Order: sequence, then C-alpha cells, then structure tokens
Amino acid sequence: MPHRLEHILSLNDFERAARRHLPRPLFGYVTSVAEDGITSQSSREAFDKYAFLPRALVNVSGVSTETELFGRRYAYPFGIAPMGISALTAYRGDQVLAQAAADSGIPMIVSGTSLIPMEELSGAKGSDWFQAYLPGTPEEIDALLARVEQTGFNNLVVTVDYAVPPNPENHRRAGFSSPLRPSLRLAWGWYGRDGYSGLF
Ligand SMILES: Cc1cc2nc3c(=O)[nH]c(=O)nc-3n(C[C@H](O)[C@H](O)[C@H](O)COP(=O)(O)O)c2cc1C
Repeated sequence: MPHRLEHILSLNDFERAARRHLPRPLFGYVTSVAEDGITSQSSREAFDKYAFLPRALVNVSGVSTETELFGRRYAYPFGIAPMGISALTAYRGDQVLAQAAADSGIPMIVSGTSLIPMEELSGAKGSDWFQAYLPGTPEEIDALLARVEQTGFNNLVVTVDYAVPPNPENHRRAGFSSPLRPSLRLAWGWYGRDGYSGLF
C-alpha cells in the first residue's frame, strides 16, 4: 500500500483527505450536491435503511463477493459511477479510475464529459462501459454511438436527466466553473492548502 494511503481506513477518510489536498473550487465541484441538498440527504437516508443481518455459526469458507452483470463476472457488487472532468482532480484522473477498476475487477463507467478521449480509456486495462449525454440530432447520436461501438465499449449508459443545464449554485459558491476560469480566488485555493502547491 502506498505510504500516503496508510491513514485511509474507510471511504469517508478519502473525503477528509481530499478536502485538505484539493483546491477549494475543485473539492467543491466533486463534493457538491444539488441546491439545498434535500435529494442528497434523502438518498443518504434511504441507503441508511439497508443493513447487514449478521448470521453466526454459518460456514463461510466458500463465500464470495463476486457477482455477474450483463454476462461478465465482477469481483465486487459495486463499481465507479461516471464522473465528468476527473482529470481536473488527478493527473489523467479518468484513466486512473479506469485502470484501478480493471485491476480490481469492478466496473467503471467512462463519463461522456471525460477530458481524455474514450479511445484511451477502453480496452483490457481500461473500461468497457461508456456513459453518453445524447446530442440533439439523430445524426449526431448515430455518430456518437458508432464511435462508442467502434472503440469497443460493450455497455452503454444513457444519462437522461440533463435535458437542460442544472442550476450550479453550489459550484458558484465554491468558485468552480467549467471550463475552469483563472481567477485570484482559484489561485488562492490552489496555493493555500496543506503545503500543496498546484496540480501541474
Ligand atoms: C463530481 C461528479 C461528477 C459527475 N459526473 C457525471 C457525468 O459525467 N455523467 C453522469 O452521467 N453522471 C455524473 N455524475 C453523477 C454520478 O454518476 C452519480 O449518478 C450520482 O453522483 C449519484 O450517485 P451517488 O449518490 O453515489 O453520488 C457525477 C457526480 C459527481 C459527484
């Protein structure tokens, strides 16, 4: 395990580390939720209703976390959801996620707004899932789907809740915009953190 991950003991620890590591606008982008956070909160509460039911004195010598999805076996029953512009928060971030998922045997869905061309993210050391925001005309949709298929993706995820751009009020509060515009606030967020002096 890399030394810098030794203090990461749970998924929540990543969030605390990311808050210290990333410039504020970028942490704001990754962590932000819609508007007042009502949907985020009720999703959290819905997931919290699930619980493991421990069963003692059961033979666990042959248990497995593996699961099958669309004809392929995965090591664990979860994967990485599509996240746009991940290369802003780590060097070639989309590729880091695709490769880590391939190494771990879990699915990773390449975002339609990845900053890295889809051709560099597919294949044995990458992902075979692609997420598309469908363009406005049948011709553009056909061209996109042809490229996705030709690249070798086997699974297509279509995001349908983006018919109009959302109200990015929390992005604005954090000083984030896409494309990222240079500003004093961004530079301050960049250099002011934990001895961290820039992404590039
Ligand atoms: C920083 C960030 C970027 C995202 N980018 C995309 C995207 O490019 N395409 C997409 O379909 N969903 C995107 N999503 C939505 C996630 O894939 C996911 O559906 C959503 O966050 C709900 O899952 P969660 O409750 O586990 O966060 C993004 C979410 C976050 C937090």
